[in-house]
Amino acid sequence: MKTIIEPFKIKSVEPIRFTTIAERREILQKAHHNPFLIHAEDVMIDLLTDSGTSAMSARQWAGIMDGDESYAGSRSYYRFEKAVRELTGLTHIIPVHQGRAAEKILFTLVGGKGKRIPSNTHFDTTRANIEYSGAEAVDLLNEVGKHPHQRADFKGDIDLAALDAFLVKERREHVPLCMITVTNNSGGGQPVSMANLRGARDVTKKHGIPLFLDACRFAENAYFIKLREPGYANRSVVEIAREMFSYVDGCTMSAKKDALVNMGGFLALNDGALAVQARNLLIVTEGFPTYGGLAGRDLEAIAQGLEEVVQEDYLRYRIRSVEYLAEKLLSAGVPIVEPPGGHAIYLDAKDFLPHVPPHEYPGQAVACALYVEGGVRSVEIGSVMFGKYGAGGSLISPPMELVRLAIPRRVYTQSHIDYVAEVVIEAHRHRMEMRGFRIVEEAPMLRHFTAKFAPL
Ligand code: F0G
Repeated sequence: MKTIIEPFKIKSVEPIRFTTIAERREILQKAHHNPFLIHAEDVMIDLLTDSGTSAMSARQWAGIMDGDESYAGSRSYYRFEKAVRELTGLTHIIPVHQGRAAEKILFTLVGGKGKRIPSNTHFDTTRANIEYSGAEAVDLLNEVGKHPHQRADFKGDIDLAALDAFLVKERREHVPLCMITVTNNSGGGQPVSMANLRGARDVTKKHGIPLFLDACRFAENAYFIKLREPGYANRSVVEIAREMFSYVDGCTMSAKKDALVNMGGFLALNDGALAVQARNLLIVTEGFPTYGGLAGRDLEAIAQGLEEVVQEDYLRYRIRSVEYLAEKLLSAGVPIVEPPGGHAIYLDAKDFLPHVPPHEYPGQAVACALYVEGGVRSVEIGSVMFGKYGAGGSLISPPMELVRLAIPRRVYTQSHIDYVAEVVIEAHRHRMEMRGFRIVEEAPMLRHFTAKFAPL
């Protein structure tokens, strides 16, 4: 087997500004030890997110020039609508400016007090939009998905027995829909199997509940199905993706992931009456139905990106580059969620820093250390992001303390990834010197974006 090379040439480059460890210590302190508050120019390798950070192709940039900016009935909208419909088979395609705008519209319409919405795992903006509407977000992840070091092919699967039991117990009018996130971002970027999607369709159908996909990373999920699920090795990724969508009644999509664009998203659904309400709300909050919250050129770039993302050369390189980083880290003894997911490596901060308890935010400590060591920006996904306060003000921690190294699409080369591995391994060598943090300032919702920390 020869090296799997990046399946593209580089036509346009952005410089990386190099900094020293001493400079980065000062920068981090000024950013209150929160990587979200560091200026991007002060970051050398930015693995904060894979969202909106993709490099677009020459054809996408050509589409940007070619975009039709008509307010109503833009040609670019019809190209976009056709691309999304051919992929998803869904009837009503509603463009929005990003994934959470689709969530906001959907849950404003179907959420509300007394409603409960099950999922494999809701992503944080989905959960926030559900809770903001007054409804409750319920995670029903299968057991193996909760164990970071247990290897399994489809750790993103929803627990079908738990879903059935949930729907038996709940009154039907209290559950407006069930949502499945592919791949399961908050659970480690783990894929959901086709068998599980089919099973979820059967269970929800039996109870008369619509099934929706949070489809952000549908192509990566489809590629994992091709690699791992019996019967799919000879099917094309686009066929697999179409089958995934065939089991659902709608989806929310952040095009900032698997549509390879810097901004965009959509809500797609089959329910005509719900689509009318969604479009009415869209006009108030986003824009006219043939552009949503986007420019015509953005719609062109999404349509083109959806064609490129299902190409197998691309997905082979994409999934392999994440796995390559995982192999390097594992062979040096760095604890990560296994197997690696589609878009990111998740370091297990509980194992990385056994001497830092969850209420001292071990994930934050690791993320800060990676920045100081090599200018690598990552994000904590643990007690900072999901911690809640119980009665008496004590912290209720989520089950895992993770640090995500999300890999932007088509942006970094193999030597960048080698460098990231060196930085993480070096930080891991010095782990016993790391200490935890306390929060000195925080917002009431989604606090991780703006919280300020002080080292202990
Ligand atoms: N659903 C999932 C699974 C996501 O990962 C995200 C965004 C969203 C919905 C919301 O989409 O950002 O376009 O509004 N995830 C980004 C991340 C922010 O870094 O994982 P959005």
